[in-house]
Amino acid sequence: MKKILVTGGLGFIGSHTVVELQNEGFEVVIIDDLSNSSLKVIDGITAITGKAPIFEKLDMKDQRALIDFFQRHDDISGVIHFAASKAVGESVQKPLHYYENNLNTLVYILKAVLGLQTSNIIFSSSCTVYGQADKMPITESAPIKPAESPYGNTKQIGEEIIKDVCKVENELKAIALRYFNPIGAHTSAKIGELPIGVPQNLVPFITQTAAGLRESLSVFGDDYPTPDGTCIRDYIHVVDLAKAHVVALKRLIANKNSSNFETFNIGTGVGSSVLEVIQSFERVSNQSLNYQFAPKREGDVISAYADTHKANSDLGWKAESTLDDAMKSAWDWEKKIRNL
Ligand code: WQD
Repeated sequence: MKKILVTGGLGFIGSHTVVELQNEGFEVVIIDDLSNSSLKVIDGITAITGKAPIFEKLDMKDQRALIDFFQRHDDISGVIHFAASKAVGESVQKPLHYYENNLNTLVYILKAVLGLQTSNIIFSSSCTVYGQADKMPITESAPIKPAESPYGNTKQIGEEIIKDVCKVENELKAIALRYFNPIGAHTSAKIGELPIGVPQNLVPFITQTAAGLRESLSVFGDDYPTPDGTCIRDYIHVVDLAKAHVVALKRLIANKNSSNFETFNIGTGVGSSVLEVIQSFERVSNQSLNYQFAPKREGDVISAYADTHKANSDLGWKAESTLDDAMKSAWDWEKKIRNL
């Protein structure tokens, strides 16, 4: 049984990926500093798969601790690297925290991966690297625009770091997955998104409003140049996204990669407006949502949705869930954690 390290494996996307790795027969080791996650997530993963992942609390900024970890786990076949800070707004206020936590740790994990028998890494990147792309849908060859936030910059620089290392370290094989908008939760409602404080993202704000935790949803902007005036995004079910990581990892382990650094857009290929997401929620929950229009949010792009042809053909992966499926799973999870 191949052993896979998942950094940040107790987080939203990480935990769903651990489940899919275990479902595929991999042995999973999680390291997480618990700064934005909870140990309870291990129980949720175990309840779903019947297998408890190995867990070690570890702050990856501590290079000594990371070296020690790899000395004890020198049989790792691949690493999926999620561990990073990811709040766009917070990154503007705390740039040094973001550069240290997202980039120093990437350098340390790359050094460690190069010391393994097989050096395979999947990097958690983001559609944020495209900024406001000129053409929809967005392909992997769309130009990388100047980052709109330190968070987005760490994803761009992270990809550059990996690309530069791959140029000189032939044994390193890397795939960057550029996520669009991950939403929803495992259909079992045993794991899901656990936003700390007031949610910045649309879908958890919707479900918390419906659950009575928030007064109402503010829709940021109603006069964008889009069919209904609200911004368009590519909302992908987190389980579909998790499965993309497993497929990408298998590609590297089987040496099926066409170059030692590849990027893939991971989305549904469908753009949905904020109002369409609200309508989807109202359909699946059979209740109306309290919302009002508010001023545009700084830094928001008008539209971003993926051209997924490369992932469909090279990875043999395609998102299977619809927006309604994802919104229903998000609502089921919210009701579960609020005992509704
Ligand atoms: C979606 C749409 C908002 C909240 C972010 C990160 C990106 C990625 C996904 C990590 C926008 C509108 C939102 C609200 C609203 N994260 N909105 N009211 O900004 O597309 O992407 O999360 O990789 O890097 O930037 O997601 O959910 O914040 O916003 O109207 O209360 O919903 O204006 O149009 P975003 P989001």
